[in-house]
Amino acid sequence: MAKLWGGRFGKDPDKLLWAFNASIGFDQRLFAADITGSIAYAKALERVEILTSEEATMITDGLAQVLQEFESGTFAFQPADEDIHTAVERRLQELVGPVAGKLHTGRSRNDQVATDVRLYLLLKIEVLSVLLRELQRAMVEKAEATLDAMMPGYTHLQPAQPILFSHWLMSFVWMLERDAGRLSDLKRRVSVMPLGSAALAGNTFGMDRAALAADLGFESISRNSLDAVADRDFIAEFLFWATLVQIHLSRLSEDMVIYASGEFGFLELDDAYSTGSSIMPQKKNPDPLELARGKTGRLIGNLVTLLITLKGLPSAYDKDLQEDKEPLFDTIDTLEIELPVIAGVIATLTIDRERMAATLQDELLATDLADYLVHQGVPFRESHHIVGQVVRAALARGCGLTQLSVQEYHEISPHFSEDVVEMLDFRAAVERRDVAGGTATSSVKAQIRKARAILEG
Ligand code: ARG
Repeated sequence: MAKLWGGRFGKDPDKLLWAFNASIGFDQRLFAADITGSIAYAKALERVEILTSEEATMITDGLAQVLQEFESGTFAFQPADEDIHTAVERRLQELVGPVAGKLHTGRSRNDQVATDVRLYLLLKIEVLSVLLRELQRAMVEKAEATLDAMMPGYTHLQPAQPILFSHWLMSFVWMLERDAGRLSDLKRRVSVMPLGSAALAGNTFGMDRAALAADLGFESISRNSLDAVADRDFIAEFLFWATLVQIHLSRLSEDMVIYASGEFGFLELDDAYSTGSSIMPQKKNPDPLELARGKTGRLIGNLVTLLITLKGLPSAYDKDLQEDKEPLFDTIDTLEIELPVIAGVIATLTIDRERMAATLQDELLATDLADYLVHQGVPFRESHHIVGQVVRAALARGCGLTQLSVQEYHEISPHFSEDVVEMLDFRAAVERRDVAGGTATSSVKAQIRKARAILEG
């Protein structure tokens, strides 16, 4: 078996060891990044006169052809292809002959793989940030289209105060907005080029690494070769980012699973975003939401897998680091499909305004009654206590707060007078909360305007 590092070995590797060692099964998706990195590296070698310009051209033309083979699906893998780096170089050798052997001058797979993963991740960050934006846009649009709908807001999953459905939905837009900010921040730390660090100590060819980084579109270069080949912080950070997005999606999903349940019936998923039961013909299940909730364990697992891989690892490169890829790829793949699915769920769901309104219970107005007393000069702690007595009186009579007479209110506290009736209105309760960030229609409209400006900007 022809390997790229066979010279020192007296026999072929054990078959099982080979299977255990190889990463080609999962790192082949790095082909474009690997070839892009190598084309730029060939130019860097030409600049330090390790390659003549003819040799550099032969190599870069050959690499372009290898790329074309990958893209057209005609690249033929060989059993000796240990990973994507050796596969590309092996094929290059077949295409352009011995000159291919000059490409790896001053380079190690250690700095090569770290560079490839960063290039790959930078592209995926672009994709994911667009998908995140699209999900936010779907939410903002739905929030705008449903501005009139009121529902109970919950704490402890107990009905608390009336809110706008849009206010609830917009709350997730802001979570995702923080995620968008974190993503653009961490991108700077992904955009650092390790190439030129070689195996661990740097290369001997006087390369201009800044020029190489500029060719590859990196924002900066790594400052220490030992750190550069073993740094996977950027993956850990990205996986944490993705996990937090996932946790936000899972909280959103859980709310929606509850709201879509038969008992709540606040919203209904479109048929295109629901699935049925194989036995119960009436069932329409919110599977995409349950999966979004369910994928969370997997994404947390991917993050933890990497962190444990890094823990206590000796400097600099260790083969353990090959284990960085599958968690990373799995997390990217998951979000790449999940974000647009959830955007589709949001864009197509319908809400049942009557059902939402019908679940608004008088108790949700208790805080407003307390606030009313505050306006009459009663200290809030006292008014809280008085309204507690009102709630008790209603419970004792088996009626709602709106069914007590003004007389009964007045008996509990002389501070209650005729106009207390105006307090006892859900719409008014919502509209009174017109503080910035509150649930009043005007405040939610302001949120939506602000979010739109960010999303368009
Ligand atoms: N497949 C390896 C990885 O993903 C490439 C680097 C191998 N380096 C080495 N010294 N064996 O980490």
